Amino acid sequence: MALSFKQIGNTFAAEVRDIDLHAGIDQSIVDQIEHGLATYGVLIFRDQNLDDDSQQAFIQQFGPPFETKLKEISAGHPHFYDIGNVDPEGKPIAEDSVRGMYMLANLLWHTDGSQAQPPIRLTALHARVLPPVPPPTEYADMRGAWDALPAELRREIDELAVEHSVYWSRQKIGMSMKDFSEETLKTRQPVVHPLVRTNKLTGRKSLYLASHASHVIGWPVEKGRALIEELTEHATQPEFVYAHQWRDRDLVMWDDSWTMHRSTPYDGPHPRKLRWCGVRELEAV
Ligand SMILES: [Fe+2]
Repeated sequence: MALSFKQIGNTFAAEVRDIDLHAGIDQSIVDQIEHGLATYGVLIFRDQNLDDDSQQAFIQQFGPPFETKLKEISAGHPHFYDIGNVDPEGKPIAEDSVRGMYMLANLLWHTDGSQAQPPIRLTALHARVLPPVPPPTEYADMRGAWDALPAELRREIDELAVEHSVYWSRQKIGMSMKDFSEETLKTRQPVVHPLVRTNKLTGRKSLYLASHASHVIGWPVEKGRALIEELTEHATQPEFVYAHQWRDRDLVMWDDSWTMHRSTPYDGPHPRKLRWCGVRELEAV
């Protein structure tokens, strides 16, 4: 079966038609989805009746599922987090709780798992419970952003390496080291990734940015932070952004190696729950 991809964003993002992921997918479909992710970065599968078992079966076709070790935001499953405003029992999340702070951090432009080594390669988010007017999730095309940089700047930054740290991104929302458990502090050390990555399937380069991106290796910290901020502002201009308007049972899957994303605020009274899972890169990046 040949999947059909319809681009719906300005420079990237596509809807995938006529597929029921709950029924399971074979290797040919996996290959087509991989090609779609390399081409469009963000894929939207509408009307997917997934439960935890079928979402798990789907994601593990693409590589080793990311282990959700952070007890603070766990969905009570080894590979799922819950994104939204209610906890696994359906109770509203307090804004000043650790879970609430993580949801606040989701409002920053970020790339899932860039603070890990190997980082997360793909993410899939399934809309389980949506409010009547759901807040969109925004995605940024860091390949288009790279292409649009002046050639001289591209040459200057092509070989740079960046330190990524969850403590840096959480500092931006007012968390401090004491908000993390000792176990978390031990297991989540800062890591280093290239600032520019090349997609293995398309050969195209992209920026690799995230709220976790702290500073440039070998540069004065403030100079590196200024560059990261400038590039993030460039990459998140409206021309590079796709805003996803959620519908019930949407599964949105994206390639974390060349896209960034963020939640947008929702303070309404209705519950919102999206089930998150990710796939790690097989090797260090
Ligand atoms: Fe995220």
